[in-house]
Amino acid sequence: MIPVNEPLLGERELEYVTECIRTGWISSAGRFIEEFEEKWAAYCGMKYGIAVSNGTTALQVAVRCLDLKPGDEVILPTFTIISCALAIVECGAVPVLVDSDPATWCMDVSQVEMKITERTRAIMPVHIYGHPVDMDSLLGLAEKHDLVIIEDAAEVHGAEYLSERDGAQPTWRRCGGMGHLSTFSFYANKLITTGEGGMVLTSDPIYAEKARGLRNLCFRPERRFYHTELGYNYRLTNMQAALGLAQVERMAEIIARKRWMGQAYTERLQGIPGLQLPVEEPWARHVYWMYGLVLDKTMGLEAAEFARRLQALGVQTRPFFLGMHEQPVFLGRGLFRGECYSVAERIARQGLYLPSGLALTEAQIDQVCTAVKTVLES
Ligand SMILES: Cc1ncc(COP(=O)(O)O)c(C=O)c1O
Repeated sequence: MIPVNEPLLGERELEYVTECIRTGWISSAGRFIEEFEEKWAAYCGMKYGIAVSNGTTALQVAVRCLDLKPGDEVILPTFTIISCALAIVECGAVPVLVDSDPATWCMDVSQVEMKITERTRAIMPVHIYGHPVDMDSLLGLAEKHDLVIIEDAAEVHGAEYLSERDGAQPTWRRCGGMGHLSTFSFYANKLITTGEGGMVLTSDPIYAEKARGLRNLCFRPERRFYHTELGYNYRLTNMQAALGLAQVERMAEIIARKRWMGQAYTERLQGIPGLQLPVEEPWARHVYWMYGLVLDKTMGLEAAEFARRLQALGVQTRPFFLGMHEQPVFLGRGLFRGECYSVAERIARQGLYLPSGLALTEAQIDQVCTAVKTVLES
């Protein structure tokens, strides 16, 4: 069975984690935490990094930084993981959805402005499966309507966006470096993994201080065990940061490997009728977190059945997200009733992703592509 993900860890990771064990710095203090935060923030073009326990808690902390009031609204794509909407709902705020772009599967930015009301406080673009959201128009809307941008960059470590906003010269900007706040996940299937882990990035010192407080139970500097706000224990350990730092140091190699994988799949699968492959827009540098496929409805095959047949041929896959407007937990709370998002609904049923881990070999890619063709020809 070719697993959907297999991490690729190296000698440097072993060396750094061993140092934690040898020196006893195994908890949430130690040199690797700060270094990991500083290096990752700098890599993405942000000033501050606040390492947390996972990508979901990163979103919770980032959204809490906004001090949202009940009824405040945050615009996000329906096609994403529940963590995004959860972080908004938990604050008593209202998630407001937009559909996906049919080519990139990221939020359709042309739908955002019509969703802005006097209650809108923030926009949460989610970069999907390794491809950036078309950020320029969102950055423009944020400026025009005084909104905060929280980028969910959990799936796009090192992906880049060609921004034409700052001056005449277009510039490549890293995902997670364009919003007021951004969040990352370092789960085992991510381009950088700490087993479980996450980070909030910002260049705003006020958000950074607030996020640090929320991560660590909102202890106050003037007296320990004195609190004026409710926080969480969302700390990352030095051992996890050690693992992460070793990978930040070889980001170029990680991205090259992912882009090689993406190109290898595309070369083998392009031209198959009824099969939509990932695109790379001219303004984007894709990092192929996961290599997605969407079957045309005319194929008469849904992704769930496609996945079962691939599994029988030794290929593990995962289904695409199911939109937030189709989640019983939110419908039960009276959210999104009667709302339809046709692109998200279609790709949720017709999409899946192929094995995409860093340890994937060329022989495995060949095997996966042969299996895909066998199923589609049968
Ligand atoms: C877009 C997105 N945001 C947030 C998360 C949550 O990250 P975690 O699993 O580390 O909580 C994920 C998880 O894969 C994700 O894909």
